[in-house]
Amino acid sequence: MTNYKELGLVNTREMFKRAVAGGYAIPAFNFNTLEQMQAIIQAAVETKSPVIMQVSKGARNYANGTILRYMAQGAVEYAKELGCEHPEIVLHLDHGDTFELCKDCIDNGFSSVMIDGSSLPYEENIALTKKVVDYAHQYDVTVEAELGVLAGVEDEVAAEESHYTKPEEVIDFSTRSGCDSLAISIGTSHGAYKFKPEQCTRDPKTGKLVPPPLAFDVLHEIEKKLPGFPIVLHGSSSVPQDEVDTINHFGGNLPDAVGIPEEQLREASKSAVCKINIDSDSRLAMTAAIRKHFAEHPDHFDPRQYLKPARENMKKMYIHKIVDVLGSDGKLAQC
Ligand code: G3H
Ligand code: 13P
Ligand code: ZN
Repeated sequence: MTNYKELGLVNTREMFKRAVAGGYAIPAFNFNTLEQMQAIIQAAVETKSPVIMQVSKGARNYANGTILRYMAQGAVEYAKELGCEHPEIVLHLDHGDTFELCKDCIDNGFSSVMIDGSSLPYEENIALTKKVVDYAHQYDVTVEAELGVLAGVEDEVAAEESHYTKPEEVIDFSTRSGCDSLAISIGTSHGAYKFKPEQCTRDPKTGKLVPPPLAFDVLHEIEKKLPGFPIVLHGSSSVPQDEVDTINHFGGNLPDAVGIPEEQLREASKSAVCKINIDSDSRLAMTAAIRKHFAEHPDHFDPRQYLKPARENMKKMYIHKIVDVLGSDGKLAQC
């Protein structure tokens, strides 16, 4: 058993309380590689932001759970080395789908886990979430649950259509499951193709797709039912068009990729939404930089030559999200 406190990590409880009260959101960035981890920590330290580093089941399969845990421990030490004496770094399991997976993460240094029972019948979702909560809370690990189903297809996270969270269920669900935060469905979805072209309108000037707005009415109803309770948004990449254009210009093929407009995420961050999940934008930033680098330097074959600009581009994106969208810069309890 390795408790996260031994690794210098923190759970989400205090940072969410401050974020809800302060009208900002904590970034939850997915990572699979060293370069993503370095870029996340550099961005968090430079902006003095708390940060959630999250790993999916797929990330654990790709990078190995033990290595990821040591990377998170390394991230804490790296943040200190970069000059941040009191970093607030959470190691979070994203979309845990079984009690056993959540337990394994809790036993191996994670400070927060998500149990995603959103595809289960309501009572089964409550029962599974409660089982994880009962175990996690013995070790002061916080638990995110999900109610409502997101649209889109992302690796092992798949749902054909979006079913908004029902506000009338949130009090019963959070009380009986005991979860610490709740991911809701208000129209976001996973991946770089969040909406079909027929769900969007087109900007007459640029010809680019304009997605339908998020269901803020549902969010506000949920906030009224659960005042001050931490709400999470998944599927919140904005799929920056300049990165998509770079990828397509340098040989990629991502037609009609579309994300959530940043103004809407900025608005959501001011509400009880206190955790915003971003993965696809990091993938796009990395891929755009690498494609450009290869096109401009066909003779390069040392991975450091193309991973360095990839890391720089991700770092720029992370800083932009923290400062211009989520507003978590300067929000460490102690610097
Ligand atoms: O919500 C899903 C995340 O983007 C993780 O994706 O399962 O491909 O690692 P992944
Ligand atoms: P994006 O695909 O929009 O980046 O969402 C990531 C996510 O929700 C991870 O859980
Ligand atoms: Zn997600």
